[in-house]
Amino acid sequence: MFPVDPNSLYVRSEALRAFMEDVFRTLGVPEGDARIGADVLLEADLRGIDSHGSGRLWIYVDRLKAGKQPSITTVTTVTEDPGTALLDGGSGLGHVVAVKAMEVALRKAKETGIAGIAVRNSSHFGFAGYYPLMAIEQGMVGMAFTNARPSICPTFGSEPMLGTNPIAFGAPTDVEFPFLFDAATSIIQRGAVELYDRLGMDLPEGLVIDPEGKSLSDPAAVLKSMVEGSAALLPLGGLGEATGGYKGYGLAAMVEILSAAFQNGPYLRQVTGVGMGHFFIVIDVSRFLPLPIFKSVAGNILRDLQGSRKIPGESRIYVAGEKEYDTRKERLERGVPLSRETLMQLDAMAEDLGVSPLDRSGKERRS
Ligand SMILES: NC(=O)c1ccc[n+]([C@@H]2O[C@H](COP(=O)([O-])OP(=O)(O)OC[C@H]3O[C@@H](n4cnc5c(N)ncnc54)[C@H](O)[C@@H]3O)[C@@H](O)[C@H]2O)c1
Repeated sequence: MFPVDPNSLYVRSEALRAFMEDVFRTLGVPEGDARIGADVLLEADLRGIDSHGSGRLWIYVDRLKAGKQPSITTVTTVTEDPGTALLDGGSGLGHVVAVKAMEVALRKAKETGIAGIAVRNSSHFGFAGYYPLMAIEQGMVGMAFTNARPSICPTFGSEPMLGTNPIAFGAPTDVEFPFLFDAATSIIQRGAVELYDRLGMDLPEGLVIDPEGKSLSDPAAVLKSMVEGSAALLPLGGLGEATGGYKGYGLAAMVEILSAAFQNGPYLRQVTGVGMGHFFIVIDVSRFLPLPIFKSVAGNILRDLQGSRKIPGESRIYVAGEKEYDTRKERLERGVPLSRETLMQLDAMAEDLGVSPLDRSGKERRS
């Protein structure tokens, strides 16, 4: 998880939600969809996934303002079977398309046990973990995948070919929080490079390379080179074969196939800001065995991992989803930290759109 900018101001999550809903509504997004857009961004903020929260609102605002996306998202069914569907997102807001696709997946999984939904013609859906969480709420296992604009190079290559193609897998457990693995298939993703830049920190070695395979460390230069296509993010495992870079490369390619091949959509260099594909899987646990048994075995796995031998100097072993759960509890109490830069951006947005500025007053109300 990324360190919080020490100059951040803590804002009540409900104030942030109200502001983002207002922004979406002002841009013509219907009430319910505005609520979805704001909720996905806020949930990222609450969970400490600062690269995918309100700091990114401007991307959606710019697209809606420029008419690059319709404000009304229309999701249509291209083809459907009891356990599968191919949906068309009509180039609408990715968050809205993904929530609607996941709702279809949940409905179908209740009927058939397992459902797989392919989505075409969508756009950036934010943090992938939001969608498995919808399945967990209903005692099911959920998975979400999406392709994205090319930025990862293949092993032995230096050209950005694959998106940061995240994998999100969530399962209910009997511990306080669900298991939720949710990460890019690159070592670092674009949003995190932006955070390094905002914090004025150099990137560690071995995350991003230039066309000659040399490591790059200046985040501002990396962001510029990424736009030009001359810098590439390394897949999980890093450069070459020695540390298993081909495994991250393989996972990123797997996500590309899930996201593009099931819907005959753009892939690799063809993927741009809109028109991307997603894939969702939902498994109804109760078709296999009673949910409490699944939750108890999953919980035992997490407890065993947490309780296993630690390396010197480390006092705690985490499992996926744990840090985000802790952060969510803390931020519901204390508020969401927003950097000065993000606050200035949101104020400028409010002025431009004629909406009330973000309310910075008071303490969190919810606990
Ligand atoms: N929509 C898109 O196109 C897109 C593309 C890439 C990434 N993303 C999103 O960006 C977000 C951040 O991705 P990232 O790759 O920077 O994530 P990350 O590197 O922060 O890894 C996050 C995952 O690792 C787990 N984790 C962290 N520390 C751990 C520890 N010590 N022990 C066990 N588990 C630990 C977390 O619980 C979480 O599941 C994700 O939510 C992802 O969905 C979206």
